[in-house]
Amino acid sequence: MIIAIDGPAASGKGTLGKRLADHLGFAHLDTGLLYRAVASVLLGQGIPLTDRDAAADAARNLDVSHLDAPDLRGAAMGESASVISAYQPVRDALLAFQRQFGSLEPGAVLDGRDIGTVVCPDAEVKLFITATPEERARRRHLELVRRGEDVTYETILTDIRRRDERDINRATAPLKAAADAITLDTTNLDADGAFQAALAIVDRKRSKT
Ligand code: DC
Repeated sequence: MIIAIDGPAASGKGTLGKRLADHLGFAHLDTGLLYRAVASVLLGQGIPLTDRDAAADAARNLDVSHLDAPDLRGAAMGESASVISAYQPVRDALLAFQRQFGSLEPGAVLDGRDIGTVVCPDAEVKLFITATPEERARRRHLELVRRGEDVTYETILTDIRRRDERDINRATAPLKAAADAITLDTTNLDADGAFQAALAIVDRKRSKT
């Protein structure tokens, strides 16, 4: 079984995906980390993010064994990832790995922007997680401050709005809910509430198959 979770930056889809996967004994892939890792390779080699060929090369040769590196999760890397993720050859290079991951047994949870629409269009469960930009900025700000980053709420909100704009309006695999996705607005839900609501949707689907 594949559970596809899409949604905008800082919507809580990563936390939710991990929790669902742990609960169900499924594998979990935060696909944003792939794009962050590609951006990190470029930045590490002093290559500008506007170099599409270098970005595609980095994606083709990506070493996926270091996706848990803490520096990938910072705010600056998210912004850089958003830039290179708009390049079609980068997306193409990362597709096979994501699809392979989706075939893991007994099941896989993938979260990102285009999982239900492009990567796993046949996923049995598709969730689209949203929350207002202000609520997402509040959560992300809290998370980054806890990790010791020196950032303001206003900076995060601006960053989130800019990323939404870029992720939604790009020509290739834009952020959008699949036609058959169930939208979960978590603005007024905490992590537990979001998990319970998502699990109810998954259980309903599993009882039918
Ligand atoms: O989910 P995240 O914040 O870690 O994602 C970072 C960027 O990567 C995001 O702004 C857009 C891009 N991304 C994407 O284009 N497709 C995905 N499936 C996941 C992330």
